[in-house]
Amino acid sequence: MTTFYPLSVKDIRRETADCVSVAFAVPEALQGTFAFTQGQYITLRTQLEGEEVRRSYSLCVSPLDNELRVAIKEVPGGRFSTFANQQLQIGDLVEVLPPEGRFFTPLDAKQAKHYVAFAAGSGITPVFSIMKTILETEPHSRFTLFYGNQRTETIIFREAIEALKNIYLQRLSVYYLLSKEHTGSDLFSGRIDRNRCRTFTEKLIPVSNVDEFFLCGPEEMTLSVRDELRAQGVAREKIHLELFGTNTGKRKKKEHTTIDSDYAAEVSIQLDGNAFSFLMTDPNESVLDAALRNGADLPFACKGGVCCTCRAKVEEGKADMDVNYALEPDEVAAGFILTCQAHPTTDKLVVNFDA
Ligand code: FES
Repeated sequence: MTTFYPLSVKDIRRETADCVSVAFAVPEALQGTFAFTQGQYITLRTQLEGEEVRRSYSLCVSPLDNELRVAIKEVPGGRFSTFANQQLQIGDLVEVLPPEGRFFTPLDAKQAKHYVAFAAGSGITPVFSIMKTILETEPHSRFTLFYGNQRTETIIFREAIEALKNIYLQRLSVYYLLSKEHTGSDLFSGRIDRNRCRTFTEKLIPVSNVDEFFLCGPEEMTLSVRDELRAQGVAREKIHLELFGTNTGKRKKKEHTTIDSDYAAEVSIQLDGNAFSFLMTDPNESVLDAALRNGADLPFACKGGVCCTCRAKVEEGKADMDVNYALEPDEVAAGFILTCQAHPTTDKLVVNFDA
């Protein structure tokens, strides 16, 4: 479940001044393990200055491309992204967790759907994978992309998007927004936000004509577009979102203060058929962090409540989550939690990762 595989870097391509895409060589024997669906991500792990660093990056290619490639945008102060942009070399080995994620909808060549995506910055990565795969797989479907960036030269995959537009002239529409460059139109000069989303849906794409929405970018953009779509009556199941950007994983945690200084919860973890127990005494620590500290090898990636890798089911007791951007309401109702966000609220908590 948490097996990392050492894969060698096959190719590094500079996409923009601060973004590279990195392709990995997948040995024949691991082709099935690394098969993926459009919109999924992989988690990379390496040692930097003697410390383990792991980060998740969305695959930026279509499964039909027969390539395992991610885009890594350099984040100021970002250890892995800086390393990948400045030091990573072809032939280097990186430990890679097989593809995961649920940022996609099933495709079928017989479907005739209209898909609309709102992406900002590196949020284009999974959206590009989704868009390309849909256009190639569903000949009767169309795709509209609203894509926000600071300037023309920071637009990741611009050439590849233009190439797709040339191939799928009738079925792909792309609207670029620039926040630090005037585009000649006020509507497309600035960030994607709730007001612009409303204008786009009023003037360009009525929500009633859209079958699925994909939103990917920083939290503020993604959640504000989602809120606007929900306010316009778009069903929750039609809105798929993935959060990228600086806030992800660094969100201020709720303070779990307790009057009872004797706070203690006995936590039992079930994983791969084995059970493992430990005592939690810090109400601000997550179940995942406490388990890792106690030596458990549990699956996780973002630690920000976004990726869903740390999902598990509560079999006994109760737990509170700080944030949840990944689980659907029916999963929460069924007892699933994101362990990276969960804190026990009962003396005993039994969590099953195999459920
Ligand atoms: S590790 Fe990503 S949601 Fe918990």
